Amino acid sequence: MCSLLPFFSLLLICATGSWAMDVTMPFMEYLDQEQLVCLKWGFDNPVDDITFQLAVNTTGWVGFGLSPNGDMKGSDIVIGGVGSSGSYFSDQYATGNSMPLEDAQQSYTLLSVRENEGQTVMTFKRPIKTCDDKDFQITPQPIKLIFAYGKTDEISYHGSRRGTKEVNLLNYMPKSIPTNSSYLSAMVDNIIVPSNTTYYHCKVMKFPKLNTKHHIYQIEPVIDHLDLVHHMLLYHCPPKVTEPYDKPCYMGDIGDSCFGVVASWGVGGGVYKLPENVGIPIGGENSDALYRLEIHYNNPERKEGIKDSSGLRLHYTAKLRQHDVGIMTTGVLPGRVKYDIPAKANQFLTYAMCNTSYFSKFFNPVPDLQVFAVLLHTHLAGRKVRVGHFRNERQIDFLGIDENYNFDLQQTVSLGSIKTIKEGDEIVVECTYNTTNRASVTKMGLATTDEMCLAFLFYYPAINITSCVSIPDARGVPMDAEKIPVDKITEYEMMLKKAPQYQAILNSNHNAFFFQNGTVRDLMKTPAACQIRNTSNRFSTSWIVNLAGIILVLLWIILM
Ligand SMILES: *[C@@H]1O[C@H](CO)[C@@H](O)[C@H](O)[C@H]1NC(C)=O
Ligand SMILES: *[C@@H]1O[C@H](CO)[C@@H](O)[C@H](O)[C@H]1NC(C)=O
Ligand SMILES: *[C@@H]1O[C@H](CO)[C@@H](O)[C@H](O)[C@H]1NC(C)=O
Ligand SMILES: *[C@@H]1O[C@H](CO)[C@@H](O)[C@H](O)[C@H]1NC(C)=O
Ligand SMILES: *[C@@H]1O[C@H](CO)[C@@H](O)[C@H](O)[C@H]1NC(C)=O
Ligand SMILES: *[C@@H]1O[C@H](CO)[C@@H](O)[C@H](O)[C@H]1NC(C)=O
Ligand SMILES: *[C@@H]1O[C@H](CO)[C@@H](O)[C@H](O)[C@H]1NC(C)=O
Repeated sequence: MCSLLPFFSLLLICATGSWAMDVTMPFMEYLDQEQLVCLKWGFDNPVDDITFQLAVNTTGWVGFGLSPNGDMKGSDIVIGGVGSSGSYFSDQYATGNSMPLEDAQQSYTLLSVRENEGQTVMTFKRPIKTCDDKDFQITPQPIKLIFAYGKTDEISYHGSRRGTKEVNLLNYMPKSIPTNSSYLSAMVDNIIVPSNTTYYHCKVMKFPKLNTKHHIYQIEPVIDHLDLVHHMLLYHCPPKVTEPYDKPCYMGDIGDSCFGVVASWGVGGGVYKLPENVGIPIGGENSDALYRLEIHYNNPERKEGIKDSSGLRLHYTAKLRQHDVGIMTTGVLPGRVKYDIPAKANQFLTYAMCNTSYFSKFFNPVPDLQVFAVLLHTHLAGRKVRVGHFRNERQIDFLGIDENYNFDLQQTVSLGSIKTIKEGDEIVVECTYNTTNRASVTKMGLATTDEMCLAFLFYYPAINITSCVSIPDARGVPMDAEKIPVDKITEYEMMLKKAPQYQAILNSNHNAFFFQNGTVRDLMKTPAACQIRNTSNRFSTSWIVNLAGIILVLLWIILM
């Protein structure tokens, strides 16, 4: 169901390195030591179905479940296989270490099951969030997965053919670490954090020279003061930046122009590992480039005299991966631009767009960009961020969505399936702000008290474009955010949305190209927070139908 190359994907079932081979099921994990039980999965962000593919080296029954503690008791189980009289599949639950019972509500749907060379491959799905609180709810936390299988299709005690493994299904990161690797340190060294509540420190630096291209595969935060360090971003600098420095950010220094994001970390985040087929290129032709590390210190208690040595470790390897990763900034053109958010707004939405039709002006052909992760960014007044993906004037998907944006929890989020941006596709970034507690207008800008509306898209293969951003051309808007009455805020918001967009596309040399007259298309509603199971009662319904059928037949016989 999921691959255009079914034969190819069949061969690659659970082959190592098959990460991202299958765009709809990019994640893979063996559930046992012997590598006889392999699980692949994928899902659609934000709320939709999660699809699993379980491959087990047996021609007997196979079982898979989500368990509260790794035991059978209380777990949500599916059992299926291909038997002598065809395939079978059902959603069950276990009340103890005994034969599971069939669920009245069948929340899983079988997509396919087949046997091939002694292996059973079963593909099935369920909604990530069901509205039934009796179901095992899948959250972005590690979940204990259990499995068992039989030698035959007679479902009986599994003996030792069972196991459990903890996996974070919705926030998965690969575990394998290249054997021969080292890291670059992007760190500050004993800087004195001023007692200001908000402080941005910038260190423009050179890394040790790497003569050949290497790939960064893991970004590890090193936090000296967990109570102060709020977020860190590492940017690539354009060639005009030639001298390292260490000082407060955004004071008009040349390094302020380093805006190609290389790595990021936000409060609440941990180590970020890239998918196994991609790496962030470093060294080689680029080895003279400088980088800017930006650390945002949040010091509400205005602590004095604290010395900090925090930063990022960029783990890299000489063993190059298949693709170079690119990170593209989309959203509202960052910096001091005219897109003011009125005060006292319960909610105020800003919009920006990116029209990839223009990419062909820089290179031809434009490759398909495979987006695998996203980092959303606003400042303190941000409440929601949504990134719409349009093709042929219609929205086809969301590339990112956060309905409960939290400034204190900014992390790179891996998508549950790989989303392809084709040449000509358009992206709309929508941010929602709440300024009810502000007395004056909030400007777009760099300070924490200013606002931003950005979505960093992590994709491959990398192209020479670092930003595709826009701002509305507000010249035709006859209202001024400073003087707007509360009841006109929505009208003002709509006027800015309808205004022609002034678009900027930046390349890695920080050259900007401008295009006028873009339009912001309407985004669809966010899907409901949980899904009513469309397959509910499928089995019991068919029983009723069958029963009714039998009664009809009986009646007919009696009447005869
Ligand atoms: C499991 O079965 C597959 C397909 O037949 C085979 O390629 C693989 O080597 C088997 N794995 C083990 C550990 O026997
Ligand atoms: C810290 O706050 C003081 C007083 O408000 C201000 O003068 C100074 O510029 C601030 N320093 C930084 C680095 O923001
Ligand atoms: C890997 O090993 C080679 C040869 O042993 C060495 O030259 C290289 O520096 C090592 N490190 C990395 C990151 O490739
Ligand atoms: C905006 O913030 C205020 C104050 O925190 C809150 O009462 C209000 O419900 C928020 N508005 C929305 C739309 O969430
Ligand atoms: C990116 O493109 C610009 C011109 O469009 C070119 O000058 C620059 O060298 C390119 N950079 C890289 C890293 O390919
Ligand atoms: C874009 O808008 C400007 C200002 O409204 C107008 O002068 C110009 O002709 C438009 N360009 C195109 C290509 O429509
Ligand atoms: C994107 O650019 C193409 C080609 O210039 C144009 O036809 C299309 O209307 C633009 N889309 C938007 C949303 O501005």
